[in-house]
Amino acid sequence: MSPLIAPSILAADFANIQKEVEMLNASQADYIHVDIMDGVFVPNISFGFPVTEAINRHAKKPLDVHLMIVNPDNYLQAFRNAGAEVISVHYEACTHLHRTLQAISGLGAKAGVAINPHTPVELLSDVIQNIDMVCMMSVNPGFGGQKFIENTYSKISRLKDLILAKGASTKIEIDGGVTLQNAPQLLAAGADVLVAGSFVFNSQDPLDTIRELKAVTLV
Ligand code: DX5
Ligand code: ZN
Repeated sequence: MSPLIAPSILAADFANIQKEVEMLNASQADYIHVDIMDGVFVPNISFGFPVTEAINRHAKKPLDVHLMIVNPDNYLQAFRNAGAEVISVHYEACTHLHRTLQAISGLGAKAGVAINPHTPVELLSDVIQNIDMVCMMSVNPGFGGQKFIENTYSKISRLKDLILAKGASTKIEIDGGVTLQNAPQLLAAGADVLVAGSFVFNSQDPLDTIRELKAVTLV
């Protein structure tokens, strides 16, 4: 089965955001990955509601919003209003994760949980049935263009086993340093969704790069 592709708009040209979103509309991308950074949970600030709304105004693909922020509960409704179809909160930022997941589902969005590279997948064991998508970080969140962390492969396999053991239908999304080189092995380990920022937007032909990622098959 071919992977779902979620290009990260973080690597796009923000001065031409409409053009970039239209390129994604015309591509084989399945989602538009939207990275929200608050300068507290991560050491970087990206953008917030007005830019997310602007992206959504032109987008024909669902927005997959990755919240790298503290106190995400305070902003779920606002991001849903801004057009988020998937809302991922960080495990490390949620004291009452089960409650947060219920709140996201209650808004009619898909509930996602992002986990940092140091967070074991086993910590999701008791909430996996409530999670539509796990956004597994394969870099430390905060910046695009970082190097993929190799330990991710074994985390994917362990998460896949956990999902199957619990009879859940959770999708596994990989975020950070994804390229055509590591994509086949990510799929083989059990990944369903690939986020790609710099690999897509820094390429000669982003449309063609998305097509190539979409065409990746199991090794
Ligand atoms: C990192 C973000 C990623 C990032 C991916 O904090 O969550 O989504 O945009 O960018 P690349 O694909 O360049 O690693
Ligand atoms: Zn992300």
